[in-house]
Amino acid sequence: MKIPLLQVERIRQHFGDTAALVDVSFELPEDQILTILGPSGCGKTTLLRIIAGLQKPDEGTVWINGQKMNGTGTWVAPQQRSVGMIFQTLALWPHLTVEGNIGLGLKARGIKKADRDSTIEEVLEKLQMVQHLKRYPHTLSVGEQQRVALARALVLQPRLLLLDEPFSHLDLDLREDLITLIKGLTATIIFVTHDQHDALAMGGLLAIMCKGRLEQIGKQEEILQNPATEFVRYFVRRSTGLFNG
Ligand SMILES: Nc1ncnc2c1ncn2[C@@H]1O[C@H](COP(=O)(O)OP(=O)(O)OP(=O)(O)O)[C@@H](O)[C@H]1O
Ligand SMILES: [Mg+2]
Repeated sequence: MKIPLLQVERIRQHFGDTAALVDVSFELPEDQILTILGPSGCGKTTLLRIIAGLQKPDEGTVWINGQKMNGTGTWVAPQQRSVGMIFQTLALWPHLTVEGNIGLGLKARGIKKADRDSTIEEVLEKLQMVQHLKRYPHTLSVGEQQRVALARALVLQPRLLLLDEPFSHLDLDLREDLITLIKGLTATIIFVTHDQHDALAMGGLLAIMCKGRLEQIGKQEEILQNPATEFVRYFVRRSTGLFNG
């Protein structure tokens, strides 16, 4: 049997008295999109940061492609995990053009200018952004900036792409465009949102979190048909309204 690309095993994370994550375990096979849906403060960003290696969990283990990322005597640094992350804040460099922002990671890998240029152009082509190559982030709309952040992660060809509420400030049309674009990528992706509409539009696998716990994970249709907990039932009731409306 093929090893799942990502295995998360009994992760626990406390910040003072706050239990940010409580025994979170799940697996994600290669080339699947998993949407994690849950209310603000339920631990979504913390979970992504732990997977990316930006935070060491109090307990539990992350495995990527069968390789242990953390645990007694083991720590794989973020840059060695082949994980790309797009943050809620986007974090583009204001003093660099679109080209400069996207090329930075390639440059750090020692890739030659000519090869960088062709890779950048190829990814921008896919995102319909080639015409903006020489622009600075502040001259772009937020939707365009989101695409630059996505391009910057994609050029490094991560095995796993983590998207932390990348569309929170976009209008519905732009969100739908970007969801279509993400669904068209061949990649293993975790997409985090607190928006039920976006979660349902993404399809694929769905995980529902509440107060640091993973309440249920499975195919979207299965969760809608067989909610496992009271919180998921509450979510499904509201989603039925979205489907009908
Ligand atoms: N570094 C930290 N120090 C203290 N508390 C933290 C820290 N990081 C997260 N928390 C707390 O842990 C809980 C989970 O936070 P997290 O950012 O993971 O939530 P979230 O699900 O991403 O929320 P949102 O949808 O608002 O982004 C929150 O109560 C938050 O205040
Ligand atoms: Mg968050």
